[in-house]
Amino acid sequence: MKARIVILPGDGVGPEVTAVAVAVLEAVAAHYGHEFTFDRQLVGGAAIDAAGEPLPAATLAACQAADAVLLGAVGGPKWSDPNAKVRPEQGLLALRAALGVYANLRPLSVHPALAALSPLKDEKLRDVDVLFVRELTGGAYFGAKTRGADYATDECRYTEAEVERVVRRAFELARGRRRHVTSVDKANVLETSRLWRRTVMRVAADYPDVALEHQLVDSMAMLLLTRPASYDVVVTENLFGDILTDEAAAIAGSLGLLPSASLGEGRAGLYEPIHGSAPDIAGQGVANPIGTVLSAALLLRHSLQLDVEAQAVEAAVGHVLQHGPRSRDLGGHAGTAEVRDAVLAALAGHIAHADAFPRGVRACG
Ligand code: IPM
Ligand code: MG
Repeated sequence: MKARIVILPGDGVGPEVTAVAVAVLEAVAAHYGHEFTFDRQLVGGAAIDAAGEPLPAATLAACQAADAVLLGAVGGPKWSDPNAKVRPEQGLLALRAALGVYANLRPLSVHPALAALSPLKDEKLRDVDVLFVRELTGGAYFGAKTRGADYATDECRYTEAEVERVVRRAFELARGRRRHVTSVDKANVLETSRLWRRTVMRVAADYPDVALEHQLVDSMAMLLLTRPASYDVVVTENLFGDILTDEAAAIAGSLGLLPSASLGEGRAGLYEPIHGSAPDIAGQGVANPIGTVLSAALLLRHSLQLDVEAQAVEAAVGHVLQHGPRSRDLGGHAGTAEVRDAVLAALAGHIAHADAFPRGVRACG
């Protein structure tokens, strides 16, 4: 198939990790006979430096015309003056809003070979397989902001329709998994959360085959650490989802591992690792590219409907996590290029094996 993919390297380690994901996508295209074109565009601080704004019109136009967008990370100390008029993060938020990608999927699983890196004990990590569905284009991130001499406000606003579409997506996804949805809110305090909960209960009536549970966000922050394996799909609003998924990343062993897919109504989507720009290690060739490579796998699956290819990339990453080499955040010494080469080699090995033993013919796994 043919696909146009926009690459937004962004800031910090963004260019290094997206370069690895592109190499992986190129290998996938070569092996499976697809034609992917990569269109690199500016976003975030890099775009502020070059064009004076974090989301130039050319970038947005390219993203809107693309089949999928793969982003590295935005932000860094250079642009974080609290009095700055423009910030890199505004580019990312504007892009999410403009693309209408309201559902942010952030899967959490713990690779057995990495269990020792998790702050949780082994027995808590068994069978952890959570899909966070974070509302991505509403709430306090996008509400009116005011600033006076000695006060500030961020309006948190949700419409019923905004809640319903993301909650419906969560229930649909649960049907392809273990049929359990946990909705996270703060309905004992916040009006937006009471609207959220009422909407969840109404939508849930259409999914009698899916079990529903409500949790308050403070309690959920604790439960995620005490019994992470009891969750399947977790759906929540924008800010709660931002916070809980960083916590989830720590459970997996490193923030560098987790991918995300941001989806709207169509097939096009925005894919990015959940980590930030990591300015402390940027440009050193030591960033862990795996969160971005796994985001590319999600891109193959959700925007291009290439599930076999997505699984091949995930299997290659699984192989590297099992056998190494490992980047520094995973307790190893490997640089980004070494991890890239290992993923590419594992991918080639996986494909060669799949060709030699096609499905059904494969006798012993
Ligand atoms: C994330 C990031 C972003 C967010 C920042 C960079 C604006 O933390 O994708 O989780 O808060 O959404
Ligand atoms: Mg975040």
